[in-house]
Amino acid sequence: MTTPLVEIQGARKVYEHEGKRLEVLKGIDLTINAGEMVSIVGPSGAGKSTLLHLIGTLDMPTSGVVRLDGKNVTSMSSSAVAALRNRTIGFVFQFHHLLPEFTALENVMMPGMIQGGISRAVLTEKATKLLREVGLEHRVTHRPGELSGGEQQRVALARALVLEPKLLLADEPTGNLDTANSDAIHALFHELNRNHGTTMVLVTHNVDLARSIPRVVTMRDGSVERDEVVETHNAYGATPPSS
Ligand SMILES: Nc1ncnc2c1ncn2[C@@H]1O[C@H](COP(=O)(O)OP(=O)(O)O)[C@@H](O)[C@H]1O
Ligand SMILES: [Mg+2]
Repeated sequence: MTTPLVEIQGARKVYEHEGKRLEVLKGIDLTINAGEMVSIVGPSGAGKSTLLHLIGTLDMPTSGVVRLDGKNVTSMSSSAVAALRNRTIGFVFQFHHLLPEFTALENVMMPGMIQGGISRAVLTEKATKLLREVGLEHRVTHRPGELSGGEQQRVALARALVLEPKLLLADEPTGNLDTANSDAIHALFHELNRNHGTTMVLVTHNVDLARSIPRVVTMRDGSVERDEVVETHNAYGATPPSS
């Protein structure tokens, strides 16, 4: 039996705003198994980013339970959650958040430098290999300002993978890119899912990307409106989940 990588049960998220209660997530149940590739779609304001933050343990639900890799994060200390997050999850956001004064290679190495316990030589080798995988072997010594938007996002993707996370979370990862660069990043997501078995949850407005992913979770007004395994239409060779 597979242990779910992510298990969310009855998650509600309520914000207090100017004396008003705003229920942004209204009881979410969602299970994601290891190796799955899932997209989260839905209109702006539906709660997609809020849900992704719960999955990523960047935020906690007002009530309900979030389990990551079998551990109930809603009952753990914040430092224990941070440690679990750092060794389990990689993040890619709409804006790359690369450090401008460091090279592409150094940016990819950064999570390992911060975590410690990995030799510089090993980290350099890993980061170099990942930059090659995302097609940037000729850009390792470039700083972010010397890279195109698409290249910056590929560096961010390599950085998210350097600690070999079980789970990659992306929030509108191609929201800021033109079609050609979006397509290249989409192909990379599929390739990385295939080659590394990395579980992926991608929030996207991009219809092509959503249609290429075998499981689509549609959110509306704080609830999961649909959660379906779809026939994929893509050139990336993704296979639907077997469960
Ligand atoms: N910190 C916050 N305080 C109050 N309301 C918030 C906060 N964060 C998000 N919201 C509200 O929650 C709703 C869902 O937001 P979000 O998850 O970002 O939606 P989506 O990513 O689907 O566009 C929106 O109406 C947003 O305004
Ligand atoms: Mg959002």
